[in-house]
Amino acid sequence: MKKQNSMAKLVSMNGLQHAGYLAVAKTRAKVLKAFSYVIPIRRPMLFVGETSCDELCDMLINEGNTNVFIVTDAVLNKLGVPTRVTDYLDQHNISYTVYDGVTPDPTFKVVEEGLRQSLEAKCDSIVAIGGGSVIDAAKMIAMSQGNDCAPQKLIGILKARKPATPLYCIPTTAGTGSEATLGAVVSDDETHQKALSIDPRMVPLAAAIDPIIMKGMPAHITADTGIDVLTHALEAWMSVNASVETDYYAASAVKSVMHYLPLAYKDGSDLKAREEMGIAAHYGGIAFNKAGLGYVHAIAHQLGAHYSIPHGRANAIVLPYILDVNRDSSKKRLAALAKRTGIVKDSQTNDSNLTDYLITQVRNLIEIVGINPTVKGMQVSDFDKIAKAAAKEVSDTYAVPTYMSASEIKDILMKIKQASDGLSDNEETSDKVA
Ligand SMILES: [Fe+2]
Repeated sequence: MKKQNSMAKLVSMNGLQHAGYLAVAKTRAKVLKAFSYVIPIRRPMLFVGETSCDELCDMLINEGNTNVFIVTDAVLNKLGVPTRVTDYLDQHNISYTVYDGVTPDPTFKVVEEGLRQSLEAKCDSIVAIGGGSVIDAAKMIAMSQGNDCAPQKLIGILKARKPATPLYCIPTTAGTGSEATLGAVVSDDETHQKALSIDPRMVPLAAAIDPIIMKGMPAHITADTGIDVLTHALEAWMSVNASVETDYYAASAVKSVMHYLPLAYKDGSDLKAREEMGIAAHYGGIAFNKAGLGYVHAIAHQLGAHYSIPHGRANAIVLPYILDVNRDSSKKRLAALAKRTGIVKDSQTNDSNLTDYLITQVRNLIEIVGINPTVKGMQVSDFDKIAKAAAKEVSDTYAVPTYMSASEIKDILMKIKQASDGLSDNEETSDKVA
């Protein structure tokens, strides 16, 4: 009896803790919504197509910039990708310095070294050529240079006092949509803990979606980054802070990914598919910039940190489980999305069928693009830490349709582990190149 009483007390305490968590999370969601209404978030000028890099350079030159700092990574530099820009700058007698020191998940040291080189060369503008890590590093360099401060001083929300040094972005992957967003992530050099800087001043002045640059992306990276786009769009669509504006961009991105990702995965030189995926990534960025993300990203960030899984792949592993969790709370919304994007079958007449079909199509897409939905080396002993961190990320940052307790998150982790243990013989299917 005594044991029952203490168990009842424990359950009631957990219930109280969860109620407190819910109250805080919902209040923060409302604050975030108010923030997105009060603080205007501009959009970069967008150039699309095979001449988009030239058009972006024309804009940079016409705005009076004469000395450009180009931020990229060593692999892209070795492949000669920045020559798309440097050749054009050479033709127009514009000086430039290339910094190719950006690493995946850039640290403060990477940003500081870029800042040092940009200041030393007296550069007046910055062009980022790369994936999300390069663009995030370039954002931090531009903000630090513009504000004459160390990048560490910019961690948090609205820490800048002055505009960034003029920043232009050329994404080489169709994934993060970082060229459209107001945030950047930097990792601590020692602890590798990630820190976030959020400021509308960080949004680049312009972005170029160039399918020629994207056609060199390997199939498995096309798959991973493409599912990242889909996740941004779906989480923004399901967010309780979604609006007519974010719905437009989220639905457009979902429709494009469902149609064009299999094409871009199968044939990397399909320029139409590459371009549409690039636009979808940009639109996904615009949508989640205001509506926010959710549990897929919160859990995927932890899986990435604990088990070194690429971001998009971690999203692909978690996404179906969270769609199942939100199936009832987001049924009307997901059914509306299915209708709006044409992901329907003739026989489907009610919201339940439409939602189920949409979720099935998402699972099918993940399979079509060869993503192995497993995690190597998952440890039950990590679950507590992962679940708490994911729950905190959601309550701090997102406005989700269904809030989960830490134990519900752990149930999902257990399902992923069980699926991973059962499928471990089929690993690395996503590394094949189409
Ligand atoms: Fe993402």
